[in-house]
Amino acid sequence: MKTKLLESLKKECLDCQRCELGKTRTNVVFSDGNPKSAKAILIGEAPGDNEDKTGIPFVGRAGKLLNEFLEKAGISRERDLYIINTVKCRPPKNRVPADSEKKSCEDYLLKQIDIVNPSVIIFCGATALKSFYDKKIAISKIRGEILEIEIGGKIRKCIPIFHPSYLLRQHSIKEGSPRDLMLKDLQKIKTLIDG
Ligand code: URA
Repeated sequence: MKTKLLESLKKECLDCQRCELGKTRTNVVFSDGNPKSAKAILIGEAPGDNEDKTGIPFVGRAGKLLNEFLEKAGISRERDLYIINTVKCRPPKNRVPADSEKKSCEDYLLKQIDIVNPSVIIFCGATALKSFYDKKIAISKIRGEILEIEIGGKIRKCIPIFHPSYLLRQHSIKEGSPRDLMLKDLQKIKTLIDG
């Protein structure tokens, strides 16, 4: 049932021209992971060059780093997660998606959340966080906290985490470093989805 609903939504997205990004994309980046029984939805920012070429989210450098962290935390990308972005098409020159572009795509994203119905939503990076939460709050202040947010008419457990692109520039693994905090946040998510 879930798969059928998502397939028909994907078909709609493949023809989408609701915003300017539709004109320049190579592929619509619909999702990756487990649509049937993922316990968590991870929402990233937007497809980059590799994602635009393949149609799969988080397959470039940031995606590879994300995979490493997931593995260390014992989270399976294929089994535990359903992965999407705030927009399904690549913004030119990898700029941050505009509010109007996110708005055009929001209906697809809300439908994906409703269909997959995860027990937790992971905001991966500031763009995803700000799409659903107070725009003024810095991700570094709120990451790792469990937030209860109304999304699509339902209160959902949400956790912000750092975006792996940020971690590509932060190499320390010392206690309290961004990489250390990312691992701890993912371990917390692992406990949540296992519980
Ligand atoms: N960064 C994102 O936020 N999403 C992707 O799919 C790839 C890189």
